[in-house]
Amino acid sequence: MLQTSDPRNQSIQVWVGDRLYPREEAKVSVFDSVVQGGDAVWEGLRVYPTGVMLLDRHLNRLYESAKAIAFVDIPSPDVIKAALKQTLDANGMDRDTHVRLTLTRGNKITSGMDPRLNQSGSTLIILPEWKPPVYDNEHGIKIITSTIRRNNPAFLDSKIHHTNLLNNIQAKIQSNVAGVDAALMLDKDGFAAELNGTNIFMAKNSKVYTPYATACLHGITRGFIIELCETNGIAIEERNISLTELYNADEVFCTGTMGELTPITEIDGRVMENRYGSNLMNALIEKFEELIPKYCVGLS
Ligand SMILES: Cc1ncc(COP(=O)(O)O)c(C=O)c1O
Repeated sequence: MLQTSDPRNQSIQVWVGDRLYPREEAKVSVFDSVVQGGDAVWEGLRVYPTGVMLLDRHLNRLYESAKAIAFVDIPSPDVIKAALKQTLDANGMDRDTHVRLTLTRGNKITSGMDPRLNQSGSTLIILPEWKPPVYDNEHGIKIITSTIRRNNPAFLDSKIHHTNLLNNIQAKIQSNVAGVDAALMLDKDGFAAELNGTNIFMAKNSKVYTPYATACLHGITRGFIIELCETNGIAIEERNISLTELYNADEVFCTGTMGELTPITEIDGRVMENRYGSNLMNALIEKFEELIPKYCVGLS
């Protein structure tokens, strides 16, 4: 699956620093930390007609990621919300929109890794694009297992939503070479961690499972699906999941802000069979869609 760009995105306004710029003028300095060392944190947001889905949870994760890597001037949620509102209003975007919100450590006075060289504050980037959910959620996607492992806290804590994405990008390259839609990344012990850009769930014998959030991003959608299970009487467990268990699951699906809930139809050439007619994934998809309006945060 190769994304295309909606022609309307050619003329978008993008927030960089403290104001909006037309797309072709929206740039960061070559001295910005994100260029120098991928030294930034980010969130993907989705805009629906009633607002931004789970916005406060996203802003909280952004704050916690930035605090973990010792950013000294993290903008408050109110400041970010005001900039987000200005950006969405300027683009007339109130649905079918994905926002890539990035906070970099800002410009350095000279090249180098040392954060003490950052003396002019962080840079906020709000890149909104017309982009409905990107995967084929009706027919599902095929995946392969990547040889690239997902980080765990011993190396780079996946609870930091950072822009050092090279391991995920390498996994995605492997899925491209294999001619499928995404790559499953394992943790250091060989258990499933997550896909290159989404979290993974499986259903088996009337119960839903998802990997511990030790080597995967603690996805906002992942957390919401766990809550949906808990509040709707669906048994859910976080635990180690092996490849054999995934191959033999009744249903497997992935979750993320970019694509919502997406069925997985094939893993490493093994077709998902759903031999006993499990319907948990569809129940969760229906519940998720029903609750979107309620969990969107309006901007004022
Ligand atoms: C590696 C990875 N996993 C999972 C996700 C899904 O997270 P969320 O549900 O917060 O969008 C993302 C989204 O950015 C991601 O980059």
